[in-house]
Amino acid sequence: MRTLKILFCTILLSAIVQQASAQHQLVVDTQKPIADIAPTMWGVFFEDINFAADGGIYAELVKNRSFEFRNPLMGWKVRGLSVDKGELLIVNQKENGAINPRFVRATLSTENEIQGLENEGFRGMGIKQNENYQFYIMLRSLEPSVKIKVEIIDNNNQIIGSNSINATLSEQWNEFTTSIKANQTIEKAKLRVLFEGQGTIDIDMVSLFPEKTWKNRPKGLRADLVELLNGLNPGFVRFPGGCIVEGYTLDERYQWKKTVGPIENRVLIKSRWMDEFSHRAAPDYFQSYGLGFYEYFLLSEDLGAEPLPILNCGMACQYNSKELASMDDLQPYIDDALDLIEFANGSAQTKWGKLRAEMGHPESFKLKYIGIGNEQWGPQYIERYKEFHRVLKEKHPEIEIISAAGPTTDERNTYLWNELKKLDADIVDEHYYKPPQWFLENATRYDSFDRNGPKVFAGEYASHVNTNNKAPEARNNWLAALSEAAFMTGLERNADVVTMTAYAPLFAHKEAWQWNPDMIWFNNLEAMPTPNYMVQQAFSLNKGDKALPITENGIALTGQDSLYASTTIDSKNKQLLIKLVNVSSNSKSIKINPKGSKVDPNSQIIVETLSGQLDVFNQVGNQNNFSIQQRKVEFNKGIPQFEIEKHSLNIVKIQLK
Ligand code: AHR
Repeated sequence: MRTLKILFCTILLSAIVQQASAQHQLVVDTQKPIADIAPTMWGVFFEDINFAADGGIYAELVKNRSFEFRNPLMGWKVRGLSVDKGELLIVNQKENGAINPRFVRATLSTENEIQGLENEGFRGMGIKQNENYQFYIMLRSLEPSVKIKVEIIDNNNQIIGSNSINATLSEQWNEFTTSIKANQTIEKAKLRVLFEGQGTIDIDMVSLFPEKTWKNRPKGLRADLVELLNGLNPGFVRFPGGCIVEGYTLDERYQWKKTVGPIENRVLIKSRWMDEFSHRAAPDYFQSYGLGFYEYFLLSEDLGAEPLPILNCGMACQYNSKELASMDDLQPYIDDALDLIEFANGSAQTKWGKLRAEMGHPESFKLKYIGIGNEQWGPQYIERYKEFHRVLKEKHPEIEIISAAGPTTDERNTYLWNELKKLDADIVDEHYYKPPQWFLENATRYDSFDRNGPKVFAGEYASHVNTNNKAPEARNNWLAALSEAAFMTGLERNADVVTMTAYAPLFAHKEAWQWNPDMIWFNNLEAMPTPNYMVQQAFSLNKGDKALPITENGIALTGQDSLYASTTIDSKNKQLLIKLVNVSSNSKSIKINPKGSKVDPNSQIIVETLSGQLDVFNQVGNQNNFSIQQRKVEFNKGIPQFEIEKHSLNIVKIQLK
């Protein structure tokens, strides 16, 4: 079946690509803009899947730092303390109403040569030579003092960095910290924490972070991963998903209120991706919520992107438990949305605005969008959405609501579009994970959409190829990315209805992924952009502010002679930003007539080209397979005329007078 699919795809693609190439004379009508390009046009979709948060962008290196995993010692090895003799116990004070109820109680003895704990990290800890790492631990005891030796060790238990703390303890929890400089780069290091002293101590929140985080924030985000997001200049950041919004059951849904405030008071939860796919099960996948809603808002602000939180609408995943909150029980879900708006935008005098201010951000996060539900479908969704819509529009008419349109483009999607139009919905979130051929054929998807209906959020999409290559990144090959580029010309041509788009999912840990393809792969030390990332970047960095028509013989290019095209203009700089996608295996000769304007004869045409073998992909550790080339082309007697390579995406920049 799989071989048949590959064959089918190959035949279809080669059918499109075999035609001979004449010169294509394209007209860009510079005086007839189609629409303004929404600043939110190209954004990012963040979901904690594939260890994207804990073990990924959240730079914490200790796994199960507060002993709250189902197995409280998962990720830990006990050193020198006898569990049999009760020298190490896990105490649970849940019944006292503690939010982070478990901690380790260790009874130290001067007779033990070594006594302590060792943490394995998330598939190891990525440690870099000459960089500093900040260690934190919370302790309490009636004993007056304890000495803590903190060591980062390699696979052979050799110390590659260490420091110690002489801690004066009290019966209150206190945090102790020290910095460690590493003398080697190790992908899979471990942390050893040894105690010297006598008597009983309580241990919690054992933590190790690189000092170099994004913006050097203590306990912050992994800088290399955020840099890649920054490199996309995204118009929005959607968070926290995806299916984790829904949860397997309603109890396991994402509840933003449990993810804000001091990190030691955030309520850890099992990740729904822990056991969704048995072939990629990850029993150690939990959400610590160290990366919570405050951090997502801050990240969006850092990136200059609109924050786009998606909330549960009273429905768990319809593929999983299919649970629904009854309509009588919907109010807490609606309150979560109202309170979130207050958390993001309310003054520091309001309950939730005050918490935001206490966390360090007295100014508003200027929230403009809120999503209600993820991949919901059916009348049950409409019934619940209606309630949210009614209340939110009454109390917060300034907020635009994103509504769900099901998991794919089938009859569920058609039904929801019809209903949502009747409800005068603002923006509808469509998802499609489809083969490359679908993306080529659907470059025209939005040509026929109602211009007076809700706007489109192409909220999750990715071209899914089948390949025999077993490397997980192999599905992120150039064929997939090229078909997305062709499709994206259709998004841009339809900028009057499409106002938000995002590839999905965003991140994947090379060893701990559940889903592929993904836009950015990483291991504990390196991050790697895929060809799909580069396509997203090419569109996003050449966004322009107005879409213009680009046609051949008066018709938009949507696959004729295997060519796809769209264009925008950067009005301030008078630069045309033309996207030309050639999916054929022949180069093409292109001539452009910028109707209604003159080109600047003193400038050159800049052509940025992404091209390659259809099966080429980047791998973590080898990122040079795929890159962008830039060339400058002289005008031919004042006329923009040039060749574009086979299997290529070209960003053509033409300076107007
Ligand atoms: O992107 C991965 C998953 O795909 C998302 O969680 C979900 O919304 C979709 O089914």
